[in-house]
Amino acid sequence: MIILKKESEIAKIRESGKIVAWTLRMVSEEIKPGVTPRQLDELAEKLIREKGGRPSFLGYRGYPASTCISVNNVVIHGIPDDKPLQEGDVIDLDFGVLKDGFHADSAWTFPVGKISKNAERLLNITQEALMQGINRAKAGNKVGDIASTVQKYVEGNGYSVVTELVGHGIGRSLHEEPSVPNFGRPGTGPMLREGTTICIEPMVNEGKAGVVTLEDGWTMVTEDGKLSAHFEHTVAVTRDGPEILTVE
Ligand code: MF3
Ligand code: CO
Repeated sequence: MIILKKESEIAKIRESGKIVAWTLRMVSEEIKPGVTPRQLDELAEKLIREKGGRPSFLGYRGYPASTCISVNNVVIHGIPDDKPLQEGDVIDLDFGVLKDGFHADSAWTFPVGKISKNAERLLNITQEALMQGINRAKAGNKVGDIASTVQKYVEGNGYSVVTELVGHGIGRSLHEEPSVPNFGRPGTGPMLREGTTICIEPMVNEGKAGVVTLEDGWTMVTEDGKLSAHFEHTVAVTRDGPEILTVE
């Protein structure tokens, strides 16, 4: 069942979303060679708590950190570790905030120093795929309209969408219905209505779509060892169209 939100509830997700966006910006300013994912995770947790929020991911199904930090060939759910970032890496910073009973969730892939032209293109295409998906998040459209738009744009640019993981509804729970895949056919899937709140999160591989989960049970890497990027926003379907809630 898709839980539709009233304006007063969307307002709470928007408040959590502001904390997510602000924290994401503050933490991203610290991204440089030599910094470790664990340091970034600790900073994110501190900032989230300073704003009166709680990190949504910490303890979620036993997840051990406040953020997921996925570097280079790590697709998603990287557990922040002590390996210093290097010039040329790409780093996906992903986390949610719970405040006043409602979650918001966002992710962004950043360059570490100067990155290759290939990597830069992957980031740009993935970000644009997210924006095109968001544009389809209108009342009366279906989830498949978002999914197919993302897939078409990504594959049209020579990359692959990851199919093992999907975006999701969000609200009082971090993960609610509906699932929001990054692949599918237009006109299929659940209907989007005013008050639907979803996380759209394309995960895009430079090479093949295949992913493998490491022994920690979380970290997902590309099967072919090539790069992956991930961008995510929490979005509300409103009378006036899609509203991105994870902005400052
Ligand atoms: N952004 C991912 C998602 O929305 C990560 C959440 S999984 C967690 O599904 F366990 F780390 F919380
Ligand atoms: Co998410």
